[in-house]
Amino acid sequence: MKSFHLTVTALCCVVVVLGVLPLSLDAQLDPSFYRDTCPRVHSIVREVVRNVSKKDPRMLASLIRLHFHDCFVQGCDASVLLNNTATIESEQQALPNNNSLRGLDVVNDIKTAVEKACPGVVSCADILTLASEISSVLGGGPDWKVPLGRRDSLTANRNLANQNLPAPFFNLSRLKSAFAVQGLDTTDLVALSGAHTFGRAHCNFILDRLYNFSGTGKPDPTLDTTYLQQLRQICPNGGPNNLVNFDPVTPDKIDRVYFSNLQVKKGLLQSDQELFSTPGADTIPIVNRFSSDQKVFFDAFEASMIKMGNIGVLTGKKGEIRKHCNFVNKKSVEVDIASVASEESSTEGMVTSI
Ligand code: HEM
Repeated sequence: MKSFHLTVTALCCVVVVLGVLPLSLDAQLDPSFYRDTCPRVHSIVREVVRNVSKKDPRMLASLIRLHFHDCFVQGCDASVLLNNTATIESEQQALPNNNSLRGLDVVNDIKTAVEKACPGVVSCADILTLASEISSVLGGGPDWKVPLGRRDSLTANRNLANQNLPAPFFNLSRLKSAFAVQGLDTTDLVALSGAHTFGRAHCNFILDRLYNFSGTGKPDPTLDTTYLQQLRQICPNGGPNNLVNFDPVTPDKIDRVYFSNLQVKKGLLQSDQELFSTPGADTIPIVNRFSSDQKVFFDAFEASMIKMGNIGVLTGKKGEIRKHCNFVNKKSVEVDIASVASEESSTEGMVTSI
């Protein structure tokens, strides 16, 4: 009987250890991961991002969004960067990404620069994460030590991209669910939505709010009426799909103004305004805190970006270090990579400022 108990206890221990093991392995990212193999990686990435952003300040926002769209689909594994091939159905044509993702060519330029200094060492997933932190700093936001050591996926998943990426018309409970699926809580939702402190959106994501909210034939009542008129000028009903600034006050800066905009009904997307205008919501006091103290927002943004960057990472022997970010390695030898341009649609018109 005693030995039976011992056996059961031992079996339980094995089950517990095996159950915990994959989690602890996943958590093996380390800011000094490339200390010996690519010590200059941060400054190499920074140089490319800084140069691009001098001509195109919006690119900082686009790179952070790319990282977000990577992490929410089978983890931060650079799956979003994979192009269509015979075996890959690219995520770039998923609804939230199509004609909307930017920065794919910039990531390729970073990869080229990094490969020159340390060939075959740095993953595309880590490049996306580093580029996000650097974009935060160059946009006036916080800096942090970026946990590194991610590896790149061998697959992409367009269906999962359509399923997991939240939509601009989501109400608060759907937003919370989309984040909870990724292990992110309500504070993460509010802090990370703060990335909409800069960058642009296409008019077609807000037309319903401006002209026919939820089939009422009227605008969204949670939209400030002066702001509504300004937005209607940029986005005429049935007009071209122009770009509009997320933050009408400081359009290219990471700051707390995103949250003060929400307090005066100047959130651009429904999903933004939901955080403040949903009656009785637990997100309201968080918006108020972030709006009144930028340091509190920055600390939360940093913590949530790190948390998002840890989602579903591949480490150790999983995945691979891609040679070219748009292809898995065995495919990349089959195509003439020099002739492949990213499937990016960055040739958009100038944004109209308000
Ligand atoms: C909470 C749910 C979210 C929704 C519904 C959402 C939706 C959107 C939409 C519709 C756009 C405009 C795309 C276009 O017009 O081409 C956009 C842009 C953007 N999003 Fe989000 N987003 C969300 C969360 C996030 C998060 C978590 C981040 C990053 C941490 C982020 C960063 C950005 C940035 C920086 C832009 C501007 C990109 C640019 O100018 O190229 N978003 N988002």
